Amino acid sequence: MSSVTLDHVHKRFGKAKGVEDVHIHIESGEFFTFLGPSGCGKTTTLRMIAGFYYPTEGQIRFGSREVTSVPPHKRNTGMVFQNYALFPHMTVFENIAFGLQVRSVGKAEIKERVERIMKLVRLEGFGERRIDQLSGGQQQRVALARALVIEPQILLLDEPLSNLDAKLREETRFEIKRLQLELGITTIYVTHDQAEAMSMSDRIMVMQGGVVQQVGTPHEIYHRPVNRFVASFIGETNLWAGTVVGRDQAEVHVRISSGQVLCGLAKNASPKARLAVGEQVTLSIRPEAVQESSERVGMNIVTGTVVLSEFTGACVHYVTAVGQEQLRSMSINMGRPVKQRGDAIGLHIPKESIYFAG
Ligand SMILES: Nc1ncnc2c1ncn2[C@@H]1O[C@H](COP(=O)(O)OP(=O)(O)OP(=O)(O)O)[C@@H](O)[C@H]1O
Ligand SMILES: [Mg+2]
Repeated sequence: MSSVTLDHVHKRFGKAKGVEDVHIHIESGEFFTFLGPSGCGKTTTLRMIAGFYYPTEGQIRFGSREVTSVPPHKRNTGMVFQNYALFPHMTVFENIAFGLQVRSVGKAEIKERVERIMKLVRLEGFGERRIDQLSGGQQQRVALARALVIEPQILLLDEPLSNLDAKLREETRFEIKRLQLELGITTIYVTHDQAEAMSMSDRIMVMQGGVVQQVGTPHEIYHRPVNRFVASFIGETNLWAGTVVGRDQAEVHVRISSGQVLCGLAKNASPKARLAVGEQVTLSIRPEAVQESSERVGMNIVTGTVVLSEFTGACVHYVTAVGQEQLRSMSINMGRPVKQRGDAIGLHIPKESIYFAG
């Protein structure tokens, strides 16, 4: 177990920008996720931690040890690559044993450690199979076992579930989390799937275009996104434009396109939001915060016409036209009649659920 520090790390590929000024400290034993769209720099950052790329600028430390230009095999990290990178002509046993052989571990110890790890990832009895005789999920577990068998201080996982079907993905997600908790390994996980990131991580780093946008717990990232990109990348949200028409210490009043004024809390603002009277501001409102209301007038009640109505059994989803904007809402099915397209509807937006994204 070890903490990981990236101290103002940059990576450029010739003129192309890889990542810019990544500055983070990952605690020992933490489950930390890099999240962002394709090409945002997740793999590049992970490869620098593993030692497959060296930073153009900045420093990397494991605990107090500087490793910025230490080669991969001297770092004691275990990595599962985006495409697994298994040796197809070798057996499961040989694949898992490989990292121990290059470290000159004795034969008897290799056998013992490989068998123990195969049990851990539930691959007992598969030792003699060749990689091309395995399913995608089994190959994924071989890749995980190969990374774990060297007893790494730091486990690096690059989209390890991307080739699995939905059910296996969920099972393996649980498995990885179980292993991480059991072994207490500092784990850095790369994904572009926000649900995966939210459900597994202690903290998440959201990236876009090689630049870190926000680092925080799933709860912070979801409820206090620092900008529009984070707000819309993490789950669904309604982004509304408005103009500040009044404010005091606690509350901010914003006129939206329908002409109506909504009241929000000043403390629910990203550092970039400007909330002086006359400023333009973006409101972020999560669909699950919006609730159907039997009232048609009142504080933060908006009225509109249902454009889309979806009943999924557990939930009711509406898209409602409110002025020039649309409002997505989602509520748990409590058995009340479901509104249909064209129906008038009143919706309540609680003031504590309005976030000013800047
Ligand atoms: N070896 C390389 N040479 C030149 N450019 C590279 C190299 N590796 C990555 N890049 C560029 O750096 C940027 C970040 O790439 P990276 O592979 O880190 O993205 P990613 O977030 O892992 O994306 P994905 O989700 O598609 O795997 C991209 O613009 C990519 O084209
Ligand atoms: Mg990648």
